[in-house]
Amino acid sequence: MNAVSDMLSTPEKSKAILLGASEKTCTNCGAAFVGFLTPLCDACTEKEQAKLIATTRSSLRFDKTFPPRAIRDTQTMRGPALAKAKEILPLIRKPGQGAILVVLGDRWTGKTVMATWWAGMLGYGRYVKAFDLFAELRRTYHENSKTKEHEVLAKYRDSNFLVIDEAQDRKESEWEQTILTNLIDKRYDALRPTVIIANLKLDAIDACLGASIISRCKRTGGGIVECTWPPYSG
Ligand SMILES: Nc1ncnc2c1ncn2[C@@H]1O[C@H](COP(=O)(O)OP(=O)(O)OP(=O)(O)O)[C@@H](O)[C@H]1O
Ligand SMILES: [Mg+2]
Ligand SMILES: [Zn+2]
Repeated sequence: MNAVSDMLSTPEKSKAILLGASEKTCTNCGAAFVGFLTPLCDACTEKEQAKLIATTRSSLRFDKTFPPRAIRDTQTMRGPALAKAKEILPLIRKPGQGAILVVLGDRWTGKTVMATWWAGMLGYGRYVKAFDLFAELRRTYHENSKTKEHEVLAKYRDSNFLVIDEAQDRKESEWEQTILTNLIDKRYDALRPTVIIANLKLDAIDACLGASIISRCKRTGGGIVECTWPPYSG
């Protein structure tokens, strides 16, 4: 794969630089590229990534918000969920892509473990269940709450990688929809990758997440990932 700078047209490059990227020299191969946090060009990043996948998984680092059960299960991943996770990783970690992905599937197809593995490969990220996100926000409305609504929102808006799990588990009120749409919109603007997981069928996803989120998801190259393989039996 080419360096980001090779793939971007001049206006796109200027835009990426405006958004905080800078022109860099790859510390490994010396190629010029435009990137955000990484010192490596896309090609070297991919090589590094492949090496990392091949070597021990115990080198993965996880944010404390990820479920210990899912962290444990990343060590024994195999089969179609592992293959899909590997296929999608480059999209999630590509600088300047800000992929928004919706992962759908039945119970026990390994969705949470996949998202946890991505965070481990990135070495950062935040995990929240949709229900808990809204509960955390609602708590800030109590008059003696020390935390403000905007502080909670900022935490999820600014995370470099965010996983919202169990997205079907909501009251689907207008308030929740507005919050979720706005959060995804801000992350889309900031080119921060986001994964939304739902235990839903494809035909139910528009109604659950709303047209705005789905269109952003398609526009960022993320799209909808359906986990159609049989569930892993425990
Ligand atoms: N790639 C995998 N290889 C082998 N086993 C797996 C894999 N992914 C998940 N599992 C097993 O399946 C169980 C369920 O995985 P996970 O919790 O990720 O499913 P899920 O799709 O998120 O389910 P739910 O919709 O109920 O949240 C794990 O505890 C683990 O035992
Ligand atoms: Mg799950
Ligand atoms: Zn390089």
